[in-house]
Amino acid sequence: MFITFEGIEGTGKSTQIALLQKHLEAQGRRVVVTCEPGGSRIGAELRRVLLSLENRDLTPQAELFLYLADRAQHVAQVVRPALASGAVVLSDRFADSTVAYQGYGRGMDLPLLHQLNAVAVAGLWPDLTLLLDLDPAAGLGRAVARNSREGKTSAEGRFEAESLAFHGRVRQGFLDLAAREPGRIRVLDASDTPESTALAVRAQVEAMLHA
Ligand code: TYD
Repeated sequence: MFITFEGIEGTGKSTQIALLQKHLEAQGRRVVVTCEPGGSRIGAELRRVLLSLENRDLTPQAELFLYLADRAQHVAQVVRPALASGAVVLSDRFADSTVAYQGYGRGMDLPLLHQLNAVAVAGLWPDLTLLLDLDPAAGLGRAVARNSREGKTSAEGRFEAESLAFHGRVRQGFLDLAAREPGRIRVLDASDTPESTALAVRAQVEAMLHA
């Protein structure tokens, strides 16, 4: 079972992933938690290049190919082997982020991005995607506060430095994707408390596990 979490910055994806991991492990399931960018060894190097504020001069095209390279490596070296070993895989972001950020955010061609994603994932699509939906003003506030608390503004702040309008487009992109693929992508309200969002996450996952 391959479950991905998507959403703009500051929606609480990593909190929800940790809570779901605990919940599934308590049921005796083996869980592998991973992320994009940076889920593989080579991906960790790509992540540094992608997110550092030093690299403000990265072109949109180069950025796209680095995310795709990260994904191809992640699928082949982490996700596929974990699924083959019987684990439930939880990934913080996956292919939908490329459509939302590079497509809706940066304005790149959507059908082209779908084709490039297909190359990167090589047939491996999530069984379930949980979209944590939140107003960008609230999400960005949380993300900027977290980076500053953890001293990560310069290492990881390249997207937090984008405008509110950019993140508004990204949010709309995720919602459009969910409307197009309602079977796979479930929209959850992330403005609630972490505990009540966690209950909604569990309900979706249980329904999928017992389908
Ligand atoms: P992430 O580490 O999930 O950041 P956060 O925890 O702040 O949500 O993701 C890093 C950034 O990379 C995030 O701003 C979204 C961006 N991104 C893309 O632009 N395209 C992609 O394909 C992926 C996977 C991420």
